[in-house]
Amino acid sequence: MSTSAPRPQATEPPELRVQEVTVRFAGLTALDDVSFTVSPGSVHALIGPNGAGKSTCFNVLSGLCRPASGTVRLGDAELTRLAPHRIAALGVARTFQNIVTTEGTVADNLMLGRHVHSRAGFAASALRLPRAVREQREHLAKAREIAELTGLERHFDTPVALLSYGDRKRVEFARALCLEPSVLLLDEPVAGMNAAERARTAETVRDVRAELGLSVVLVEHDMGLVMRLADEVTVLDFGRRIAHGTPDEVRGDPEVLRAYLGTETPQEDVA
Ligand SMILES: Nc1ncnc2c1ncn2[C@@H]1O[C@H](COP(=O)(O)OP(=O)(O)OP(=O)(O)O)[C@@H](O)[C@H]1O
Ligand SMILES: [Mg+2]
Repeated sequence: MSTSAPRPQATEPPELRVQEVTVRFAGLTALDDVSFTVSPGSVHALIGPNGAGKSTCFNVLSGLCRPASGTVRLGDAELTRLAPHRIAALGVARTFQNIVTTEGTVADNLMLGRHVHSRAGFAASALRLPRAVREQREHLAKAREIAELTGLERHFDTPVALLSYGDRKRVEFARALCLEPSVLLLDEPVAGMNAAERARTAETVRDVRAELGLSVVLVEHDMGLVMRLADEVTVLDFGRRIAHGTPDEVRGDPEVLRAYLGTETPQEDVA
C-alpha cells in the first residue's frame, strides 16, 4: 500500500509560483490574472469546465505559450520567458491532453524522455564511444525503472502502436517521468480510460509522488479522482480563478457549483 505522505527527499522540489498570469488569443482572454502556488511535494489539481484555460495554463508553465503579463517561478528561477527545453531542463515535465506517442517501442519513447540528461554529444553517440555507450546503458536502466514504477515493464520492448489506449496514456506519463522532473504536469491523465485503468493510474500518481517526492499539477475532469488525489485545488472558469482550497472546501463552493452545473441556464430550457 502506498501512503499519501511523500518520502523525504535529498532535495525537496522547489515551490512553483504562478502570479497574475494573463493570456490572450485574438479577442479571447484564455487566462485572466491567474495566480496559484504549488507547494513542494504536493498534488495540486487545476480544474474547471471545458475551455476554462487549464491546458493554456500548462502551455504557459511548459514554455509553449508566452503570457501577455504575469510570471511563473520555480524556486528562484523565473520560467516565464524561457524556451520549452530550458524549462524541461529545470525540472518541469508535462503530458499532453491527447496522446502524442504513435511510433517506436515503449523503450524508445522513454529514452526520448531521457534526452535532456544526455551529456555525450551526437558525434560520441554515433561513433559509439565508450563514454556514450555507458551513458546509453544508464539511461536504459533508468527508463526500465520508470517502466516498472508505471506498470509498463511487461511492454518495455513492445511497439506503442500495439498497446491498449490506457497503456499508451501511461507511456506519456512514463516519458514525462523519465525527465526526472521536480514538477510533473499531467493534462487529463485518465481521460478516455475505463474504471480499472483510472484506478490504476490514480495509484501510480500516488506511488510516484511518494517514491519520487515530486510535485504534481493535475488537470482532470474526473472529480472523484481529483478529490482523492489532490492536496489543494484551484478552479478556473472562463480563464478566471473562481475558487481555491482543499478538495472539501472547493466541493461546496457555490461559485464552483454554478460553474459546473451551469445554474445560469434557465431551468425551463432544460427538457
Ligand atoms: N492557440 C489558441 N488560439 C486561440 N484560442 C485558443 C488557443 N488555445 C486555446 N484557445 C482557447 O482558449 C480557451 C481555453 O482553452 P484551453 O484549451 O486552455 O481550455 P481547457 O480548460 O484545457 O479545456 P478542456 O477541458 O476542454 O481541455 C478556449 O476558449 C480555447 O478555445
Ligand atoms: Mg485542456
